[in-house]
Amino acid sequence: MTERESNRKPEKKATGTVEWSCPSNIAIVKYWGKKPVQFPMNPSLSLTLRNALTHTRIDYSYDPRLEGLQVGFRFEGKRNPAFGDRVSRYLEGLLTLMPFLRHLRMEIDSSNTFPHSSGIASSASAMGALAMCLVSMESRMAYVYSSADFFRRASYVARLGSGSASRSIYPGLALWGASDGWPESSDEFAIPVTGYHRCFDGMKDSILIVEPGQKKVSSSAGHALMDTNPYSRTRFQQARENLRTLKGILAEGDWHGFIDLMEEEALSLHAMMMTGRPGYLLMQPGTLSILGRIREFRKETGTRVGFTLDAGANVHLIYDMGQERVVRDFIGSELLQYCVENRVIHDEMGAGPVEKSQ
Ligand code: PMV
Repeated sequence: MTERESNRKPEKKATGTVEWSCPSNIAIVKYWGKKPVQFPMNPSLSLTLRNALTHTRIDYSYDPRLEGLQVGFRFEGKRNPAFGDRVSRYLEGLLTLMPFLRHLRMEIDSSNTFPHSSGIASSASAMGALAMCLVSMESRMAYVYSSADFFRRASYVARLGSGSASRSIYPGLALWGASDGWPESSDEFAIPVTGYHRCFDGMKDSILIVEPGQKKVSSSAGHALMDTNPYSRTRFQQARENLRTLKGILAEGDWHGFIDLMEEEALSLHAMMMTGRPGYLLMQPGTLSILGRIREFRKETGTRVGFTLDAGANVHLIYDMGQERVVRDFIGSELLQYCVENRVIHDEMGAGPVEKSQ
């Protein structure tokens, strides 16, 4: 999609509220490495979650005398200068794309349904929710979009805030980045993945909290390390090939192929972290114990369960919804011992962002 200019003038005295909730996502094929401006070095595919949400509400008023941003930001009811600065910088960067923002006063209120220290990607849901609100405002004041274009635009805008947020705009599975075999795919925005086998519907994600707390390496620092990582070219190639292979796996309903590919991707992501300069060891002893136990359990029982990892020590246990009971028993009896205070967050494939405003 090209950056569109508005085709209507903003209403002179627009005031109003927009409100959306947007889920986080967990990547199956990972995005790690980017080029300006927020374009991925390889395509990625993720599972949109259901319960890990950011709710964002923007109260706005239009004032033609204003020139420049006027934004207040609250997170979970409190002023949050650090996050507020990030949001302001992001909005500044959007002024050419969304000129109507120059004349708006905005009060942004945001909250998450999941704890900050859970290792769930809060930038994906936060930037996703913000982008949905911004495009809602744009469609009221500047440009009317068809439904498909609206979501595409939101994904484009979300991408500029956080690459992985571009994927949170769609339910189920989403793909971001130009990829062979996926004709609609683009580096500029994500697309919904359709045509996958019904056996993947409702897939579960139980997040085992091995280490709560802030990330040891920020995403932007991590992406930058890929510029000099000696293995990065091979890694980008591997991700591209994995995406091509995954298309067939998803269409055929090959759960075991899916698990093998997903685990390879998780370990590859961490291999990149370990081989950067500086190298990061993000897995903890508990992480390795869990990964080992999952593989043994799968070998012993044939259960459709596997793992993936984000940029941290916590483990996402991904499994077939039909095997929920057996996997929950396995978590309780064998894996909880490695989790801080027995903490696990149960989530699953979700339906995408939801609008709350009238
Ligand atoms: O969207 P960012 O810049 O926070 O990068 C996300 C990177 C990973 O979470 C590690 C992988 C991914 O594809 O989501």
